[in-house]
Amino acid sequence: MTALRTRIYRGTERNLELLAAKLQQGELVAVPTETVYGLAANALDATACARVFKAKGRPTTDPLIVHLHDLSQVTEVAKPNDAAIKLAKKFWPGPLTMILPKTKQVPPIVTSGRSSVAVRIPAHPLFRRLLKGCALPLAAPSANPFGYVSPTTARHVRDSLNGKIRFILDGGPAKVGLESTIVDLRDPSRPKILRPGAISAAQIGRVLRCDVEGYKHQLAARNRSQVAPGQLPQHYSPNARVKLHKTIPDSVAASIEPGQAVLYFKKPAKAHGRHAYWLSATGNQTTAARSLFAKLRQIDQRGYRLIHVELVPCGLMSEAINDRLRRAAAKG
Ligand code: TXA
Ligand code: MG
Repeated sequence: MTALRTRIYRGTERNLELLAAKLQQGELVAVPTETVYGLAANALDATACARVFKAKGRPTTDPLIVHLHDLSQVTEVAKPNDAAIKLAKKFWPGPLTMILPKTKQVPPIVTSGRSSVAVRIPAHPLFRRLLKGCALPLAAPSANPFGYVSPTTARHVRDSLNGKIRFILDGGPAKVGLESTIVDLRDPSRPKILRPGAISAAQIGRVLRCDVEGYKHQLAARNRSQVAPGQLPQHYSPNARVKLHKTIPDSVAASIEPGQAVLYFKKPAKAHGRHAYWLSATGNQTTAARSLFAKLRQIDQRGYRLIHVELVPCGLMSEAINDRLRRAAAKG
């Protein structure tokens, strides 16, 4: 396949019009969202969606999320229940994806042949203008090659999909930095978290006034059968091997071998060498989530073979961050 010329576009009125037209013509556009960058295609065009899988090297068994501009579009792609409407009113636009029964309009390639579809109304203002401009539901997985670390800047997208796509819309660094929370609402009386993100099971439970099956249950269930397609144990992996620690032992910090780096949650108080990195200077969980994927990419680019990574202590984003870290470490 001949390499495509990959260009980064600023969010000017003219560029947004151009990119909206490209989406209507079945082309792919990498887009900024508040979570991570996505690789968008017209969700109603099976040929365009097939290009997404090809550009990412993603197996077609891993379904895509459909992004909408506003709630009035939901019934075109999904059959929302009362619980979905309640959550939509509270958390959309925002980092929450809901699994709902699909409509006939959604081609099977988007949902990997499933009868359910993942939907989300994103919050990033530029992506919202693009969604409005093209007036289409847009299927968009994270804009990384399958299995690699998700992108949180336009540069990240270009670094790993250069030559495979033509258009990248630059919306600055992603604010949340981790993919959306996914909640399965097919049975509205028993919501289940399929992927942890910035919106917690407790927050969802408070709105729905019911118990929400947390992500830990899903992990246990996954050992019996795969419950969330595409939620593979190995995902988000840098090229370097990742070794997890509850806290970095002094013995590791004191004797870093060549080719090894240490990634702390919080900047260490004690002396550290130039192979030490951290997610947040002050130990702020929101900052840590925002910087995680960029740090993993940065360390990877410097050619380390092994990264000692500290898990994040219990807090606002710890379940989501530690989930991504465990997957990054799951590489054989
Ligand atoms: O924050 C996000 O959600 C980002 C941005 C771009 O919106 N997107 C994202 O997409 O993370 P992706 O493709 O990397 O992850 C989507 C995951 C799939 O791997 C799969 O686990 C789940 O969503 N999914 C999609 N459709 C599903 C369905 N019908 N049933 C269960 N899980 C589904
Ligand atoms: Mg992804």
